[in-house]
Amino acid sequence: MQKEFSFKYEKLSSIDELNEEQKLLLQKARQNTANAYAPYSQFYVSAVALLENGKTVAATNQENASYPVSLCAERVLLSAVASQYPNITIKLIAISYRNINGESKNPISPCGICRQSLSECEERQNAAIKIIMSGMEGEVLVVDSAKLLLPFSFSSEAMNK
Ligand code: THU
Repeated sequence: MQKEFSFKYEKLSSIDELNEEQKLLLQKARQNTANAYAPYSQFYVSAVALLENGKTVAATNQENASYPVSLCAERVLLSAVASQYPNITIKLIAISYRNINGESKNPISPCGICRQSLSECEERQNAAIKIIMSGMEGEVLVVDSAKLLLPFSFSSEAMNK
């Protein structure tokens, strides 16, 4: 039996097509790329979360001379939120980046490990997280739930936990 997986997402031509709340969050993410610690890749990423209580939490990628020690902005963000605001739901996450030339036109796409982390975060809070992906300018992608980015994700259910 053949099965199919597909999902809908929004592709906007610029930040101006977002609603006010989403626009502000993406603007924050774009500005916050300046705080990334990425001396090795020179790929500066920022992820910013909007919580149910109205607070925003910002994070950036944190690299290390021992390369595998490095952390992506998304996972730094999820750890920061879970530590500072335990039990507060994340509604929305905006992600942006810039490269060594300060440019970035194509929307960023979270890596597989971060997708797994985002997926468990949704499960833990029992609510979908909307993800906004962009660069410093240009197109913006919006996905209604982080889970959609990782079909067949591994979860605690598989372990009967
Ligand atoms: N990186 C992120 O922080 N988020 C992503 O979505 C993609 C990649 C970081 C990891 C590393 O510090 C640098 O970007 C280059 O891979």
